[in-house]
Amino acid sequence: MNITKLQDIAKSLVASKKGILAADESTKTIQKRFDKIGTQSNPETNLAYRKMLFTTPGIEEFLSGVILFDETIRQEIDGVSVPKYLESKGILPGIKVDKGDWRVNNGLNGLERGLAEYKKMGAKFTKWRVVTKVEEASLDFVDGNAEVLSKFAVLSQQAGLVPIIEPEILRDGEHNLVKCQEITSRVLTKVFEKIKASEVDLAGLLLKTNMTTSGQDNSHQDTPEEVAHATIETFNEVVPKEVPGIVFLSGGQTPDQATENLAAICKINGPWQLSFSFGRALQVEPLQVWAGKEENIHIAQQAFLERCQKVSRARSI
Ligand code: G3H
Repeated sequence: MNITKLQDIAKSLVASKKGILAADESTKTIQKRFDKIGTQSNPETNLAYRKMLFTTPGIEEFLSGVILFDETIRQEIDGVSVPKYLESKGILPGIKVDKGDWRVNNGLNGLERGLAEYKKMGAKFTKWRVVTKVEEASLDFVDGNAEVLSKFAVLSQQAGLVPIIEPEILRDGEHNLVKCQEITSRVLTKVFEKIKASEVDLAGLLLKTNMTTSGQDNSHQDTPEEVAHATIETFNEVVPKEVPGIVFLSGGQTPDQATENLAAICKINGPWQLSFSFGRALQVEPLQVWAGKEENIHIAQQAFLERCQKVSRARSI
């Protein structure tokens, strides 16, 4: 394992003004997204959509990396493999390696082999997501998830790939900001306890997690300043300063909400680079405009570029 190289990749993923596009929707999830525009998901339509995103002129100014799904990393854009295509634009290709079944060690078996294959295909980093619902955050549950993340991080670094560990606390529910802060803190504390007890190099990984917010069904929605204070307060208590960067998921917030909250968080700042790894908040608008039609590619790319620019600005505050 080349530690310096891993640290360099981690740093470049959170380079100033840039962030990560999460385009790693599983087969089931991409169909859910396509349902909104009445399009059938299959390898061809999935590629047509993702090609529209990746070939958008100018995105390399705002995107440092793209997280791919297994299907996409094996596909080609104009005769070039997707990871090579992205790299030719100066964007690092990454790969989601969890199988979406976060509650068990499912997927860790055989992961070593899979990682070696992804590395050969050109991946530079990996992502593993574990999900916690606020009402399910028992100590045992949180402990089990943290264990999976630390084992994943060790294997990923051993394979020469920067791990992005993604413990997500879902926004589902009526809980308030204080409750979200309590659970986020519980989850992150456990994650870093396990990571520190393993052979993981903290400077060669990134943390991807949720902003601290009230549940989406709570009638009170927090101001960006409230979100920012709670988020940074939580991180200051539990995220080691050796971690080079924290990238946020958007978690079902609207594009504007996620962008405004990111700006408020970055304004307070901390010892890490703070950036984005949005899925929906970057894609909702271009997906709507594209609507599965070739003739809409150009305007959909404009919508995508505009959102990338706004989010980049938010993290540069
Ligand atoms: O794992 C979740 C995605 O990487 C981020 O998606 O920004 O839509 O929450 P999101």
